[in-house]
Amino acid sequence: MNWGMENRLARIIKPADKRAVMLAVDHGYFLGPTSGLEDPRQTIEPLIPHADSIMLTRGVLRTSVDPNFDKPVVLRVSGGASILKELSNEDITVSIDDCIRLNVSAMALSIFVGSEFEKETLVSLAKLVDEGEKYGIPVLAVTAVGKDMARDVRYLGLACRIAAELGAHIVKTYYCDEFEQLIESCPIPVIVAGGKKTPELEALELTYNSVKGGAVGVDMGRNIFQSDCPVGMIQAVRAIVHDNVSVKEAYKIYEGAKGASAKRAAG
Ligand code: R5P
Repeated sequence: MNWGMENRLARIIKPADKRAVMLAVDHGYFLGPTSGLEDPRQTIEPLIPHADSIMLTRGVLRTSVDPNFDKPVVLRVSGGASILKELSNEDITVSIDDCIRLNVSAMALSIFVGSEFEKETLVSLAKLVDEGEKYGIPVLAVTAVGKDMARDVRYLGLACRIAAELGAHIVKTYYCDEFEQLIESCPIPVIVAGGKKTPELEALELTYNSVKGGAVGVDMGRNIFQSDCPVGMIQAVRAIVHDNVSVKEAYKIYEGAKGASAKRAAG
């Protein structure tokens, strides 16, 4: 048993219910100043208390997060491509030494199965796992599939299984039809990405279906920080993941917070 590895994983996936709410704010690494994240500190500060962990780049961690905060960091360590070029052309962008200095609880890297640089990203994953194993730092693999490939159980299931086979400790993917099948064929914990902004009710349904289907939780970004009430939204997501509330109950939490913040604004 690797005690450090187990301990770090337990900070991300809460042992009490084996569930996790991860706040994703790493989008700038290929999207630049994403809507809602123009000032990362302003976006992140009110949301941190409601997340179990936060996923971001080292640049935003250093510049926009108070080192006194007590939440585990999932550090994005892959990149090298922008939205203007071939996205799969990524490499490892952070050394293990810096991950240790930054006291990260996990390292996140994207794999692009079916894309031009599939092999390179898969080999990077394997190398990162080797580094992580040396120091007890888990690796979260983020699955992306080729541009022309459907985000369905066949391709996402393939990507998740490959991530697990190469040694990833957690895998992040998209929710899809027949999601339970993906979960059954993946021997490591699966966390679901929120994806593009959708109406709040839909994002809560996605959260509910993901945990019901066997995911440990969600790693959600845009559907939280681009919401008209980000704090209400993360509270609602959290209630589904950790308190097993229904979508209807969760939506009420979001609406309640939105109403309260409108009242405060009105003075
Ligand atoms: C994508 O590669 C990034 O890692 C995001 O963290 C991920 O997509 C989750 O964010 P969102 O919920 O906005 O999709």
